[in-house]
Amino acid sequence: YPIQAPDFSHCQTASEGPKLVNCCLPLSSSPIIEFKRPSILSPLRVRPAAQFVGKEYLKKYRKAVELMRALPPDDPRSFATQAKIHCAYCNSAFDQGGLPGMELQVHNSWLFLPFHRCYIYFHERILGNLIGDPTFGLPFWNWDSPAGMRLPAFYDEVDTSLYDPLRDPKHRKHAVVDLDHSLIDDPLSDSQQIYQNLKMMYRVVMTNGKTPELFMGMPFRAGDNPNPGAGSLELLPHGAVHLWTGDRAQPFIENMGTFYSAARDPIFYAHHSNIDRMWSVWQKHVAKKTINFNDADWLETAFLLYDENARLVRIKVKDCLDTTWLRYTYQDVRNPWLNARP
Ligand code: C2O
Repeated sequence: YPIQAPDFSHCQTASEGPKLVNCCLPLSSSPIIEFKRPSILSPLRVRPAAQFVGKEYLKKYRKAVELMRALPPDDPRSFATQAKIHCAYCNSAFDQGGLPGMELQVHNSWLFLPFHRCYIYFHERILGNLIGDPTFGLPFWNWDSPAGMRLPAFYDEVDTSLYDPLRDPKHRKHAVVDLDHSLIDDPLSDSQQIYQNLKMMYRVVMTNGKTPELFMGMPFRAGDNPNPGAGSLELLPHGAVHLWTGDRAQPFIENMGTFYSAARDPIFYAHHSNIDRMWSVWQKHVAKKTINFNDADWLETAFLLYDENARLVRIKVKDCLDTTWLRYTYQDVRNPWLNARP
């Protein structure tokens, strides 16, 4: 059976190793609504590559996050709540809906890609709503392309809403991201690192991602123990970019380097925007006509998330298989690693 949405009124203290954190989410006073696809007449949001955004866009994006940060922490749309959503779904605050004692975990399984797609979809709508711009699209951190392999500079400006002090100081400014990072800095030149990254992208998506299980992760059904196994994309580069960005001097590599705090860093959403784009690239080049998993337990899995009106929405995996159903798409950039066959 598919995993049912968690019951927000049954929330436990979450934990990160020995550390306890409260990630319980505000209850909404209005009844839960079922997700409905936005009208095809609503504007298509185009998510831009972070390295290409202009001044006007940046102004809007900074403003939107500023407004989100200014909302009271118990507002479902606040930056604090948005960050807690990740913790709640990843650090065992919730049981699987209707199954007390069975942990809900959205990583290390076939839920990884659809959960994060739904999560940042609503995050993006809230940001757009706060600045009154229904066309607003989150940027994507284009770390799979040489032009995007550094921390996008606008996240690194102190005193702006996009800055986060808890990042690795060695990885600011000009460092090239290591898509295979494991907290040790490889002694590679920039061009060697770029070359390694491109080869790795090819391996992860094209070579190691041949089937839905291999690319997206193993089945996780109601009553199963969590963490049946991650897909190729989730381990690397996904996990590596998290570790590379977080501050290695912090106990759990906060913020980006661990589940409970990762989404406190605004760059989290740009990282996941690119992860989500990789799902679309995989769909186009590897999966072709097969629609991911053709398995009702996957398609009917449900999550609860808040929309831009602070209402709780039940959304299912089957609702988010195509980004155009959600009325967003990605700026069309080259994917140079498609030619980096080892
Ligand atoms: Cu839920 Cu990038 O992790």
